[in-house]
Amino acid sequence: MKTSKKTIYLTGFMGAGKSTVGKLLAQKLGLGFIDLDEYIEEKSGKTIPEIFTDSGEACFRNLESEALREVSVKTAVISTGGGVTEKEENRKLMKRTGTVFFLDAPFYVLYERIRDDKSRPLARGEKEVLRERYENRRPGYEWAALTLDTKGCSPYEVVQKALQHFDE
Ligand code: S3P
Repeated sequence: MKTSKKTIYLTGFMGAGKSTVGKLLAQKLGLGFIDLDEYIEEKSGKTIPEIFTDSGEACFRNLESEALREVSVKTAVISTGGGVTEKEENRKLMKRTGTVFFLDAPFYVLYERIRDDKSRPLARGEKEVLRERYENRRPGYEWAALTLDTKGCSPYEVVQKALQHFDE
């Protein structure tokens, strides 16, 4: 399936490389780049850990859905947070308004990248709890239009894989 340059969403678990790949892909396509977590932080004036601590995950999810609705009208590459696909409304919105890529990698690869990361509230928990979250989320990610296997690939190689799906 070939796709067109409009709104491009990068999804996948924490540590999949969505932000790094997103920036590079945006450059290659000549599009703007939006990191949804940064967008939420700028809008709320708080960091993601602060939002989780002060208001809880449910509040963060509401801010996330609201932010997604706002950016969904932009022509840009959008790197989403790892939990954005949990809500059906978010998945449907992304699919309706753009092309969704799933940056796939095995849990053990991601775990090594995110363990003890202070900027990721959900990465602080037990390894097995995190693995369960990963397993539970996979169907939501796979629901995305295009899966990019990132195992063993550099960000540049992932971008090359993504570019193969564009017309020009
Ligand atoms: C989250 C992932 C984070 C961020 C928040 C929640 C998640 O984004 O949105 O900490 O639920 O997986 P990254 O996937 O960019 O780490």
